[in-house]
Amino acid sequence: MIISPSLLAADFLNLKNEFELLKPIENLWIHLDIMDGHFVPNLTFGTPIIQHLKAICSHPLDAHFMVTNPILYLDLAKSWGLHNFTFHFEAITDHHDFILAAKKIFPSVGMSLNPSTKIESVPLSILKMLDLVLVMSVNPGFGGQGFIPESIDKVISLEAIRHKNSLNFIIQVDGGVSDKNAPYLFQAGATNLVAGSYIFSEPQKNYKKRIDSLR
Ligand code: DX5
Ligand code: ZN
Repeated sequence: MIISPSLLAADFLNLKNEFELLKPIENLWIHLDIMDGHFVPNLTFGTPIIQHLKAICSHPLDAHFMVTNPILYLDLAKSWGLHNFTFHFEAITDHHDFILAAKKIFPSVGMSLNPSTKIESVPLSILKMLDLVLVMSVNPGFGGQGFIPESIDKVISLEAIRHKNSLNFIIQVDGGVSDKNAPYLFQAGATNLVAGSYIFSEPQKNYKKRIDSLR
């Protein structure tokens, strides 16, 4: 199970130290929530911070774009050294062309579904193009929200489609993930869990303990 600690919940005044603590832990991606204050009512960080992180971080960078116009960000994120670029299904209409363009730049391209977006509304032809599908288990925009339990059924449906059509995308879940729901998500077919507040709220900063408890 790959765990993706979400930078949003890290100590922003001590990011270097936070990354030192994550460095020795295996099978991690670093989840970067990029918000534009429009697709979601919040803003986060961008190029300067991510370029500095890239220089000190050996884990793959996983960017989750909660933005109205992901097309604008393809060029901008070229220099970030990302492993995965995830955009929102709800943000664009021409998914096919967008994925083709993103695949020319990034090793992995993911698509995220808001809690209100039904799996049935995503064409199979689009799922076939993806390296990752992100099931949002909270409404995007903020860390620290409560997990939406119906997300587990969504993962089960997605895994059934994946299996039936022999597709290879990773199923990632993001929002309110903790040791309480991780076993159910894993059993449902998720192979990558994003967790922010659950990991970074560990009082002794023993992040490995929290990460291991999700696996
Ligand atoms: C929410 C973000 C999440 C967030 C998760 O919009 O996409 O990645 O950081 O934070 P927690 O794990 O605290 O719900
Ligand atoms: Zn996220």
